[in-house]
Amino acid sequence: MIEKTFVMVKPDGVQRSLIGEIIGRIERRGLKAIAVKMYHIPKDIAERFYAEHKGKQFYDGLIKYITSGPVVCMVWEGEGAVGAVRSLMGKTNPAEALPGTVRGDFALHPGKNVIHGSDSISSAQREINLIFNDYEILEYSKIGSEWLIE
Ligand code: RTP
Ligand code: MG
Repeated sequence: MIEKTFVMVKPDGVQRSLIGEIIGRIERRGLKAIAVKMYHIPKDIAERFYAEHKGKQFYDGLIKYITSGPVVCMVWEGEGAVGAVRSLMGKTNPAEALPGTVRGDFALHPGKNVIHGSDSISSAQREINLIFNDYEILEYSKIGSEWLIE
């Protein structure tokens, strides 16, 4: 099924010059970028974004981290896009993330794990609506789609 997923290069990824590396990996996987913007997330939006984690021991640090500098927010579209991005991200705790994944290759600690990707189609829709205006999401066809899916 063709899905949309919300992806973010977190503040540490931006500071560590990993924007191109991360976009390149997602692009080469075969997904299509349909929205991209840099954004310094305000605290109230961060709290809504991570509402499911409110009350957890890492919550305050997480809000501080995600609002600590600009991020790159993106929507990627393609066959099984949600799962495709989750698998290339690697596990939340980079110590458990396999080499070859973004977190397995570029991160050491869960509090600085470089990338976010939606964990389900419904989370993706919620996150996209929270961060993007409708007019920022583009619809277009791209050459080569016949080489990606049967
Ligand atoms: P994300 O939402 O950022 O894509 O990450 P995720 O699904 O892999 O992990 P999730 O459970 O949703 O946690 C959100 C973010 O909170 C931080 N975290 N820190 N110190 C800790 O134990 C801890 N646990 C989670 C991470 O930045 C994680 O990505
Ligand atoms: Mg999550």
